[in-house]
Amino acid sequence: MGLRSKQPKALAFRCYAASHRSLTLAVWSLAALVVVVNFHLLIIHKEDESTSTHEINRSIVSELEEVEEEKFRVSPPRSRRNPRAVRRKGEQKPPSVVDEFLDESSAVHDMFFPERNMAIDPINGGNDSMYFYYPGRVWLDTDGNPIQAHGGGVLYDEKTETYFWYGENKDGKTYKAHSKGADRVDIVGVSCYSSKDLWTWRNEGVVLRGEKKNVTHDLHKSNVLERPKVIYNDRTGKYVMWMHIDDTNYTKASVGVAISDSPTGPFSYLYSKQPHDCESRDMTIFKDDNGKAYLIYSSEDNSELHIGQLTDDYLDVTDNMRRLLIAQHREAPALFKYEGTYYMITSGCTGWAPNTALAHAATAIMGPWETLGNPCVGGNDIFRSTTFFSQSTFVLAIPGLSGSFIFMADRWSPSELRDSRYVWLPLTVGGLPDEAADYSFMFPLWSRVSIYWHRRWRLPEGWRDS
Ligand code: DGJ
Repeated sequence: MGLRSKQPKALAFRCYAASHRSLTLAVWSLAALVVVVNFHLLIIHKEDESTSTHEINRSIVSELEEVEEEKFRVSPPRSRRNPRAVRRKGEQKPPSVVDEFLDESSAVHDMFFPERNMAIDPINGGNDSMYFYYPGRVWLDTDGNPIQAHGGGVLYDEKTETYFWYGENKDGKTYKAHSKGADRVDIVGVSCYSSKDLWTWRNEGVVLRGEKKNVTHDLHKSNVLERPKVIYNDRTGKYVMWMHIDDTNYTKASVGVAISDSPTGPFSYLYSKQPHDCESRDMTIFKDDNGKAYLIYSSEDNSELHIGQLTDDYLDVTDNMRRLLIAQHREAPALFKYEGTYYMITSGCTGWAPNTALAHAATAIMGPWETLGNPCVGGNDIFRSTTFFSQSTFVLAIPGLSGSFIFMADRWSPSELRDSRYVWLPLTVGGLPDEAADYSFMFPLWSRVSIYWHRRWRLPEGWRDS
């Protein structure tokens, strides 16, 4: 009985223990299941999230990459219109589209320099629509005046979270200093405009003024001040401006340096020099992610470019200089960086007349640099071979949109330089390059740099927080 009575107890205990173990197991399994399911759901959610972020980015980028074809009719050249003139002078070579474009009395010129009533006008809601860029139209500031920031560049100031656009103020009379001289405007100075959205620009005034009286001063109005660019020095807390300084005949071929405590100036002019004892005409500066900065300038009669590292305070060049694109005759350099590779857009050397842009790339900023080809996409042949009738000046990264940039260029109007227009277009890096020569072991060495033609475009909504 005792035994019997024990056995059931032990059995009961074993049963109880067994059922307790299986209960614990069940609870743990359930818990594990809950964890696994939750984890899985989390992953799916994350994947969804990243797919949708990716999707958004994709659609934004494809929006920027849209290509527009342009069909424009050029009216017959005027020399052909009058049969009498043809009889008198004989059949002459008709002017090219570029000749017509440069001739202010031609219909072609009017097409590329639309009237002021077509202006991009932020105070009147952009005339047609807000935030749209219209390459070649007059662009008004928030006071209703045409923006005067030619050959310029944009600085993003982290302290004020504001964009500052600096450029040549050419608001003066266009004239030739002598019959063979280039069309010119006396130095007015460097203008600065501020913006939070890269579209509505407030005039901050002339932050570096030309000099009216002292004829020996670099900034005397009779000289040349072109392509000013500003970078911020994190060590000294100063805003540093570099610019092309020249005399009327472009024989001084120097760079000038100015400095300010504030992005809106006033900038104090320091000095000019020929960097590395070389001629320097069209130029730009570039600040790398590590805080090192560089001057890139056209030299040796514009036949090559030089790149020189700046001193730590950005006020001078160091001896570290390399020659690049030797004998390629390039000017108007605009440098940018994407995913560790350096890119540069340049123009040919044809005065104020537009010509074909080229993109170049390098894995180290001091070179070697390689030429990738013409980055212009869309428009038509003549658009692509004239950089959309403009000349490069700067490439600005669009924050939040990796691989997307704004290509900034000038559509010069040599007969009325103050009426020169801005051509801002989306630029992207990605896809295969055109040239077979850029392939090594069947793999392309570089990504394609593309500047897409649009008559009208805007940055995708929410570009800052995407
Ligand atoms: C082309 C340059 O890119 C411009 O900055 C200006 O110097 C003109 N030449 C003058 O002809």
